[in-house]
Amino acid sequence: MYNTWEELKNACAACQKCALCETRHHVVVGVGSPTAEVMFIGEGPGENEDLQGEPFVGRAGKLLDKMLAAVDLDRNDNIYIANIVKCRPPQNRDPKPEEQEMCIDWLRNQVKLIRPKIIVCLGRIAAARIIKPDIKITREHGQFIEKNGVLMMAMLHPAAVLRDPRRKPEAFNDFLILRDKINEICERTYASVRATE
Ligand code: URA
Repeated sequence: MYNTWEELKNACAACQKCALCETRHHVVVGVGSPTAEVMFIGEGPGENEDLQGEPFVGRAGKLLDKMLAAVDLDRNDNIYIANIVKCRPPQNRDPKPEEQEMCIDWLRNQVKLIRPKIIVCLGRIAAARIIKPDIKITREHGQFIEKNGVLMMAMLHPAAVLRDPRRKPEAFNDFLILRDKINEICERTYASVRATE
């Protein structure tokens, strides 16, 4: 466990715990506010993320940013975004269970430093690892469950929404559910929005 972001970022950037380190360009640690009350967790970096060193910067990321903006959330302001694995799996294959296992302590450390009130898992891989292994995301997205004092919700992965745009309304509805929960339990997330109302 590292107690400062600087130590954590430096150690994570030098990680060689699994073979993904051999093909990566960047370790994609995360982006956002270290005091965020809401944390989003995706699966792992794709090609754009690997090249730029930031999560969700490709097409799926652009859609994510749009849906976030619609409920006054912003990756550079009031949330934090990370992934289950920090290095790109070749050809964008699913991260292997052993790769997830080697990487998960980085995420645990991030959660310990941030202490979010709400964790949103984007897609099946993150939801299965964080919420419950047998989660059925098509049926269970948008539902909050409490685990270790943190509210957790699975959402459809934005890449899945891009593949099937008919799912946009149900994906967006989850963001509305999230906004209501933030209004109910978070103190800081919408503070700047409320101030300008
Ligand atoms: N998909 C993810 O799950 N994470 C990223 O960072 C980018 C795409």
